[in-house]
Amino acid sequence: MSAYQVESFGTTPEGVEVELYTLTNAGEVEVRITNYGGIITHLRVPDRDGELADVVLGYDSLSAYLEDSPYLGAIVGRYGNRIGAGRFLLDGVEYKLATNNGDNHLHGGLKGFDKVVWGAEPYSGDGETGLRLTYVSADGEEGYPGRLTATVTYILTNENELVIEYSAETDKPTVVNLTHHSYFNLAGHDAGDILGHELALAASRFTPVDAGLIPTGELRHLAGSPMDFRTSTPIGSRIEDPDEQLEFGGGYDHNFVLDDHDGSLRIAARVYEPGSGRVMEVYTTEPAIQFYSGNFLDGSNVGKDDAPYEHRSGFCLETQHFPDSPNQPHFPSTVLRPGERYESTTIYKFSIQ
Ligand code: GLA
Repeated sequence: MSAYQVESFGTTPEGVEVELYTLTNAGEVEVRITNYGGIITHLRVPDRDGELADVVLGYDSLSAYLEDSPYLGAIVGRYGNRIGAGRFLLDGVEYKLATNNGDNHLHGGLKGFDKVVWGAEPYSGDGETGLRLTYVSADGEEGYPGRLTATVTYILTNENELVIEYSAETDKPTVVNLTHHSYFNLAGHDAGDILGHELALAASRFTPVDAGLIPTGELRHLAGSPMDFRTSTPIGSRIEDPDEQLEFGGGYDHNFVLDDHDGSLRIAARVYEPGSGRVMEVYTTEPAIQFYSGNFLDGSNVGKDDAPYEHRSGFCLETQHFPDSPNQPHFPSTVLRPGERYESTTIYKFSIQ
């Protein structure tokens, strides 16, 4: 049977009460989500022997998320990834955004969608259990134009899929790029580095970046480079190769352009962890996926069960539009206008091999 439970997860410094929701499916998969940042705190899935492990990095307490979190498990918005120099032109007007990554704007700014309390209500579909989160971002928040009403629905299916449906509407032209920032380790959140995980990406091109991780504008074919994951390859096999792109990212931190994108739900990535047999597939309607190999983790964030999250102990697969699209007119548009509806779906599907 699918189940839904709520408990308190503490109170923010502003005195807002925050909850922790637990969704369980018929196959014992369990996901815990807090309405602070829409963060997935726990995700337990079986291995090839039926043993459950928690495969996402996270913290035990709200206070740890409030103190310092590298976007662990969070919803990222209003704009996932970077906007160069924290500014863009829209309909001839220049907008200046909060800069929180050198001179650039990253993941929605100083207080992005990962650091706000979302409204929450249970969602129930066809024998499935879910949580619907809503956040209204004020006109001018972090420098963005337009009052944006965003909804994110997490659904846990009995096919061991975690479905994430995003939607948004605005009252003035703005830009939107919502994503999800779980760090996965399919051997378990405390199992060490992810370099042995085998990754396949449905991408023949990526968007190379400059030293500040802003796309240069090029869509580069990745054949013959360490970026080539068209056939399943261990994450660690080329990560230390001499390669300018890997140097800029300190490893993988790049936007992969999905092949044959047409807005329909398609497979973007598949990850296999040989030790446990766990497999995660990512399906999305988005045109791209950011593959980040946890390069900024350095053991200073101590997670659940006192696990220090060391260098590359989790990886992110963030479905998205391309970074810096508001400044790169030949990239797929991220503009949302009044009367339009932003809609996006991503599925993380778990199985064994
Ligand atoms: C994204 C960015 C990275 C980094 C992480 C969080 O993946 O591209 O550079 O900011 O989020 O630390």
